Amino acid sequence: MTDDEHTGTGTPEPVGQRPVSRKTLLKAALIAVPMPALLGSGVALARDHRPSDPPLTPTPYCDDGDDPTPPQTEGPYFKPHSPERASLLEPGMRGTRLTVSGYVFGPTCRPVAHALLDFWQADTAGAYDNTGFRLRGHQYTDVRGAFALTTIVPGLYPSRTRHIHVKVQAPGGPILTTQLYFPGEPRNNTDPIFNAALLMNVRQAGPAKQATFDFVVAGG
Ligand SMILES: [Fe+2]
Repeated sequence: MTDDEHTGTGTPEPVGQRPVSRKTLLKAALIAVPMPALLGSGVALARDHRPSDPPLTPTPYCDDGDDPTPPQTEGPYFKPHSPERASLLEPGMRGTRLTVSGYVFGPTCRPVAHALLDFWQADTAGAYDNTGFRLRGHQYTDVRGAFALTTIVPGLYPSRTRHIHVKVQAPGGPILTTQLYFPGEPRNNTDPIFNAALLMNVRQAGPAKQATFDFVVAGG
């Protein structure tokens, strides 16, 4: 069985043009405000605000239509028991360096600490390591709900567009199995599994690429 035997959920949305969501506000708040001030009852209230204080951070709000991250087929190449590591780079590994960073949110837009992310992908030649754990690894979000993967840009293999597989699980929650995609890939238009909702934001950073993606999972 191969990935392309599954029915995809592709949509005609324009590539890389997702609107700014209200979670962006939350992310800005995460950067600007210590986490304890954002959790529980710690969100700043107007009645606590003195004229001499700096402007209040907008209260995180989450009805922006940013639905839970859609699931996708696991494909034939997942292997359990990957090593825990945030970098999949190994000495001599060929390929364009890539970082993928972002947050895992629960359904109410709260960041999920200690969420599991298990990544696996093809090498730059489009091959998966099915005997060892090359380009496979899992990690956990930090207390801010943030993760960061260091890897290479995966290569292409027949019938599929460029993608990274991932499983995401909030502590005690269900496992989300999905895939992440790259904007501007010609095969995004022909891969039946491709879903524009799973496009990463990708920018060039010197010889490397930097990508971001935020997950919204159940159980967070
Ligand atoms: Fe794949």
